[in-house]
Amino acid sequence: MRIAVLASGSGSNFEALLHYCRDHKQGLATIELLIINNPGCGAQQRAEKYNIPWLLINHRDFDSRENFDDAILKALQLAKIDLVVLAGWMRIITAKLIDAFPSGRLLNIHPSLLPEFKGSAAIAAALAAGAKKSGCTVHEVVLNVDAGPIIAQAEVEIQPSDTLESLKIKIQEQEHLIFAPAIFSKVRQLVYG
Ligand code: GRF
Repeated sequence: MRIAVLASGSGSNFEALLHYCRDHKQGLATIELLIINNPGCGAQQRAEKYNIPWLLINHRDFDSRENFDDAILKALQLAKIDLVVLAGWMRIITAKLIDAFPSGRLLNIHPSLLPEFKGSAAIAAALAAGAKKSGCTVHEVVLNVDAGPIIAQAEVEIQPSDTLESLKIKIQEQEHLIFAPAIFSKVRQLVYG
């Protein structure tokens, strides 16, 4: 299977996925393409470091989410991508992409124990709620944001001394551990049934 990653930011999950592929040589799937929407973002720099082809599709150049996703879809089709991974993709996905990658071919990582704390400020929301634990979730993408079937989760404890930054670090450590194995379990399921 040919995998594409969509990332908007630092790209630490993208890099963890590249490490996993390097360390677990398997013939089932390869990372073929990174799409970014923020020029010069960390994910782009990591792609350059690892010689992964990357493409900038800037949402600011489009007049609607659908037209933006249409451009992404065309790029994915051109690269013959089978499975798409959102690794810190800070845009809402439309039916254009969701319908083109059905049955778990579009995966996301979210920094909370879904269904708790959906949305783009999940770590802050867990702290503000005084939660004793949070974590991260790998899930299939459906039209409702952060609501698709869950593939994997990992928990972290929240201490009274935790800040936004310290909790983010703890959650991202877990993200880097669970994202790639969850992606490859989905790949095996799609390949072998
Ligand atoms: C991760 O915490 C992920 O859960 C969220 O965005 C963040 C991306 O971090 N969706 P990075 O760009 O992979 O470092």
